[in-house]
Amino acid sequence: MGILNQEVESSLESASWIRRMFEEGNRLRQQFGADQVYDFSLGNPHLEPPPEFAQALADLALHPPLGLHRYMPNPGFTDVREAIGDWYGKREGVLVPTEHVVMTCGAAGAINVALRAMLEPGDEVILFVPIFAEYRFYVMHARGTCRMVETTDEFDLDLDRLESAIGPRTRAVLINSPNNPTGRVYPEQTILGLCELLERKSKEIGRAIVLITDEPYRMLTYDGVSVPAVMPHYAATLGISSFSKDLGLAGERIGYLIVHPDFPEAGDLLRGLIFCLRTMGFVNAPAIIQKSVAQVLGASVDVDAYRQNRDLFYPALLSMGLSVCKPDGAFFLFPKTPIADDVAFVKLLQAERVLSVPGTGFGRPGYIRLSYAVDRDVIERSLPQFKKVMRTIAGA
Ligand SMILES: Cc1ncc(COP(=O)(O)O)c(C=O)c1O
Repeated sequence: MGILNQEVESSLESASWIRRMFEEGNRLRQQFGADQVYDFSLGNPHLEPPPEFAQALADLALHPPLGLHRYMPNPGFTDVREAIGDWYGKREGVLVPTEHVVMTCGAAGAINVALRAMLEPGDEVILFVPIFAEYRFYVMHARGTCRMVETTDEFDLDLDRLESAIGPRTRAVLINSPNNPTGRVYPEQTILGLCELLERKSKEIGRAIVLITDEPYRMLTYDGVSVPAVMPHYAATLGISSFSKDLGLAGERIGYLIVHPDFPEAGDLLRGLIFCLRTMGFVNAPAIIQKSVAQVLGASVDVDAYRQNRDLFYPALLSMGLSVCKPDGAFFLFPKTPIADDVAFVKLLQAERVLSVPGTGFGRPGYIRLSYAVDRDVIERSLPQFKKVMRTIAGA
């Protein structure tokens, strides 16, 4: 018996892909020098926050309102919640009461709090494959069970498969658009179909299936694509997002959770969410960052820099013969591997000092994830390495 419980011990093993790549990256950087390693393994936003954020932060640091750094009401400062509720509500096309906004430590904090507040042990949360791997552990911490549903070949939601997966233990369905790892934005038709299905199935099973929409990449979309609103179509919705990617503030841990204005038993849910936020040790989202982001709502990092990276990387991979869906948003590519074994393909790339994550880590073997949250020249310099690997495979 070691110090760790079995659940954590076995999770460490199954969650180790990105960590392994991280360690491998450090080893390669030491051996060959940082400019010889092409690291696409981490989804760490590399663009700096916009200058207006720095200005707001500096002003608040130098001229803090009295009591800024003290404890506050657990769901956040009232003025911040009001500003976020108004801003989110306008974008989504619903009226969000201030009490329905909970400031959280990132989207991750929000999802953990929501699941912990709602799930009975063994309740099921439906996740769409390929998944953001951390979801599994959020569900685990809330004592729930994951039910995986495959997406279509184009990584859209497959509503027939979803319908077959819903049963009496289904408590929530968790969607993520723009998607990590595929870059897919679910089209409006899909969202309408999803909401209609959840409405019907909720009636059938006799309790509301909660739709959690996780949107930390909401502002990172390209070619005029925008993320369709969910709230106007389904009342049992929790909208979750953060400023980790939109404003490049991943290290500051700032996000929010919006409870639909007509959510069934919204008052009870909010009491539970706030209790969990407090007693899971988050207590409240960081004070000065709450106030800072509220002053720059609607601002974002330079999204065009990500678009330019996509427009360099995506056609280059296609021209090498890789099969890959064009991402609508976020900063990931999820190409099919030219050999069936994705882990073996990752190793071939690694031998050329290109780091990626096998699709296996996202529940979809036969693919890899490449994050293009990197400087453009990293992509440029990596392309001959990709070509080398593709030639090796073609010659094998
Ligand atoms: C799909 C998805 N959800 C949630 C998160 C967590 O984001 P945050 O930093 O806002 O907690 C991430 C981070 O990579 C993500 O990709």
